[in-house]
Amino acid sequence: ARHLLGIEHLSPWDVRIILDLAETYVDLSRGATKHADVLAGLTQINMFFEASTRTQSSFEIAGKRLGADVMNMAMQASSIKKGETLIDTALTLNAMHPDLLVVRHPHSGAVDLLAQKVNCAVLNAGDGRHEHPTQALLDGLTIRRAKGRLQRLTVAICGDIAHSRVARSNILLLGKMENRVRLIGPPTLIPSGAAEMGVEVYDDMKEGLDGADVVMMLRLQKERMDGGFIPSEREYYHRFGLDAEKLAYAKDDAIVMHPGPMNRGVEIDGTLADDINRSVIQDQVEMGVAVRMACMDLLARNLRAARAAGEGTYV
Ligand code: CP
Repeated sequence: ARHLLGIEHLSPWDVRIILDLAETYVDLSRGATKHADVLAGLTQINMFFEASTRTQSSFEIAGKRLGADVMNMAMQASSIKKGETLIDTALTLNAMHPDLLVVRHPHSGAVDLLAQKVNCAVLNAGDGRHEHPTQALLDGLTIRRAKGRLQRLTVAICGDIAHSRVARSNILLLGKMENRVRLIGPPTLIPSGAAEMGVEVYDDMKEGLDGADVVMMLRLQKERMDGGFIPSEREYYHRFGLDAEKLAYAKDDAIVMHPGPMNRGVEIDGTLADDINRSVIQDQVEMGVAVRMACMDLLARNLRAARAAGEGTYV
């Protein structure tokens, strides 16, 4: 593939190739010399039109570990503020011959649109409620390492599913890898088309967590609630916040995940989030760097092959 726009476009085989390569980058990142030159000579530009801690920093570290020249665009200080459109911004940067563009944008579909206008590889770092493919891949790697497989598991995704690109990408990836996916949350935060996504839906934590191997918690994405119903945090924690008592409904060895940023005391108890016997939240962050290294390595190979084959443009 030329771009990484969503899990939607990946086969189970693609997922395995990415995760297997990411394993080698976990080892590299834990080693004494965290460097490989597979992106040497390539330019990576990170364009984040929305706030980010994990995704932006891990894409930057991933690019630098692989030897790319990495530039972080400060979008708040860019000419977008003067009325320049996303496409004009992209075309401007494209004229500087980047090789990898990493883009986060608040609007679903904006990254796909941008990918059609530039002649480099584009990686979706999260677009609106649509997809966050590298998050689902890093979650997949974390699950595979903790459980020894990424198949035939029962995964409960709990919380604000309706506004979550993380949930959507995970539902697609886990389904492709033949896992059973359950969504748990208040009916107002479950997307209307959930039944067609091949998942089971619950509004009760006890029923939904029963027998789960993996419990993935999500935050309330108030920034996407557009003035709609926002539950009271106290009531929400009481019914849907994960603590040790509710986790006991899942399997004894169930792992706890959260993509971050976390709201302690709203969707998850702080002590449980820090319990290294159950929580793999910090592992997810570590896997994020390795998965992003793998994704950029594979896209760069395709980019170089296309250029060697004489494809002048990459659109
Ligand atoms: N999980 C995630 O996307 O975190 P950031 O918003 O901090 O990048």
